[in-house]
Amino acid sequence: MRSEPVVLAQLTDTHVSVGDHGPGQAYWDENARRLRTALRSLNSESEPPAVVIGTGDLVECGKQPAYDRLVEIMGELVLPFWPLPGNHDSPELLRSAFPHMPWADNHASWAQVVPGTDVTVIGLDSTAPGQPGGHVDLERLDWLADNIEAAEGATIVAMHHPPFLTGIDWMDAAGFKGMEQLQEVLLAHPPTRVIAGHYHRSIVTRVGSCPASVGISTTLHVNLDLSNAAVPAVINDPIGYELHCVVQNSVVQNSVVQNTVGRNSAPQVITHTRYIDRASAPQPIQI
Ligand SMILES: [Fe+2]
Ligand SMILES: [Fe+2]
Repeated sequence: MRSEPVVLAQLTDTHVSVGDHGPGQAYWDENARRLRTALRSLNSESEPPAVVIGTGDLVECGKQPAYDRLVEIMGELVLPFWPLPGNHDSPELLRSAFPHMPWADNHASWAQVVPGTDVTVIGLDSTAPGQPGGHVDLERLDWLADNIEAAEGATIVAMHHPPFLTGIDWMDAAGFKGMEQLQEVLLAHPPTRVIAGHYHRSIVTRVGSCPASVGISTTLHVNLDLSNAAVPAVINDPIGYELHCVVQNSVVQNSVVQNTVGRNSAPQVITHTRYIDRASAPQPIQI
């Protein structure tokens, strides 16, 4: 028996910009083209996502012209868009670019229920000015714990920096101030799922009992090199976005104490990756 999923899309690390800085205008135009391709795909999903969560690095340089371009492009999305800052963003300019979000007072975080569902998405600002790595202070940790506790039903914590090390050393080396304390909050108040960005590639683990993942970007990926000798590099891997399907599954549970097997209904998040740009049309097969 399958209940209808609540589909949450995750778009991350779009790195929109404009001008001749960095790799230049042609590079930023390509990033814009890729994002537009993602938006067309999201708009045409047969099971439309209830919301699209943007897990940071939405622009490259945190400057107003980049946000002007981002807002213009995101205007092509017909679905609700819930953005978060990454280390390349300006939290202040992101807040003013998307004033519809219920931003927290002192950090660019938000928490809200997906309309018509009992699914709560908690967007946690993991950025600090001028820092490439993550950062959460006591105020944000308390805010997170309070919002997880207040949520009913499935609870998705979204953030830019993943709250775990990945094994890609040169990226991990940027650090995450407060990661241990954040992990303690996630252990004490486990959400249904943690989703993050920043690494531009698919990574899956867990924090305590909670599955945690990084979504693929619409731009170049961080190169997959798990050796100690890995040097900073990017690679043109297939791009896309994640579709997180929140379902109420009937879960078989073993009770060691009573030596019985029972069934409980618990929310689960099942994640699918949508590749775009190089994707082909589905071809029906005989089964
Ligand atoms: Fe990024
Ligand atoms: Fe980042």
